[in-house]
Amino acid sequence: MRIGILTAGGDCPGLNAVIRSVVHRAVAGHNDEVIGFEDGFKGLLDGHYRPLDLNAVSGILARGGTILGSARLERARLREAAENAPDIARKFGIDVLIPIGGEGTLTASRMLADAGLPVVGVPKTIDNDISATDRTFGFDTAVGVATEAMDRLKTTAESHQRVMVVEVMGRHAGWIALESGMAAGAHAICLPERPFEVDALVKMIEERFAQGKRHAIVCVAEGAQPAAGSMEYTRGAIDQFGHERFVGIGNLLAGELERRLGKESKPVILGHVQRGGTPTAYDRVLATRFGWHAVEAAHRGDFGHMTALRGTDIVMAPLADAVSELKTVPRHRMDEAESVF
Ligand code: F6P
Repeated sequence: MRIGILTAGGDCPGLNAVIRSVVHRAVAGHNDEVIGFEDGFKGLLDGHYRPLDLNAVSGILARGGTILGSARLERARLREAAENAPDIARKFGIDVLIPIGGEGTLTASRMLADAGLPVVGVPKTIDNDISATDRTFGFDTAVGVATEAMDRLKTTAESHQRVMVVEVMGRHAGWIALESGMAAGAHAICLPERPFEVDALVKMIEERFAQGKRHAIVCVAEGAQPAAGSMEYTRGAIDQFGHERFVGIGNLLAGELERRLGKESKPVILGHVQRGGTPTAYDRVLATRFGWHAVEAAHRGDFGHMTALRGTDIVMAPLADAVSELKTVPRHRMDEAESVF
């Protein structure tokens, strides 16, 4: 069998672990050939690829990013890929394509699969917002980075009696904010799923300082929004990839809290540091298992599906289920975190 593999969308710790695992299982386990397309779907459309043998994936398990490169692609070009789906397999002589990506990539993969290209998807995203899988790799690493950042911010905040507003990634789903906020003991967690009340935040922080506490940490997802009328706020425009441009809620909220509290409030935007660097052991293992199962699924002819974690097992889920809706934080998970506003 000849397998094509690509990594698309925002990068994520663990991508290299999947690539390595696919190559190991395919080459050493099945005597397959593997080629890697460069820079996501761009490589597929422009014909940029390279062979991947055992040597090519040596030493990459713990490396962040992706050795194949990644890119977001405009929707028009993705439609172009779908229109050419049957030719793609012929052109590169591949029997299956294994795209590794988030919601956008899996939607494109589904289009390709529906158009006749044999596809086995592998979900990835630090946001953990893909339906049909309990977890995506990269999430554990991002939560770890954000938690450590808040642990560190705590000591400097209490030295100066400051409020720290820590903005973490998460456009529509607040999983990183929820879990890192809980792990770090943040005093408030603001999620995209539930507009937050600025008055409640101000009251909580005032009470803390009145009790003699010397700092407060507010963990806010980049996609969180204030409840209507609770502070000045305008939504951002949509970019060429169909994503909302954020207006910087961390900065806005820190400014608003400083004005209302009369206390120094510092915004800390964690940004891409959450996505860079070495994956945790958990993410390396999940990514490796996904890669192994993707190859097995390809050999079974289980196309139009993606690998998914259910409990502790890896199963194959229809791509259609994975992209039907985003997995957002449900109410009962918010209830468990007392500091969700
Ligand atoms: O989807 C993963 C993610 O890291 C989001 O959390 C974040 O909003 C986005 O990608 C950032 O994208 P980019 O790297 O294109 O700025």
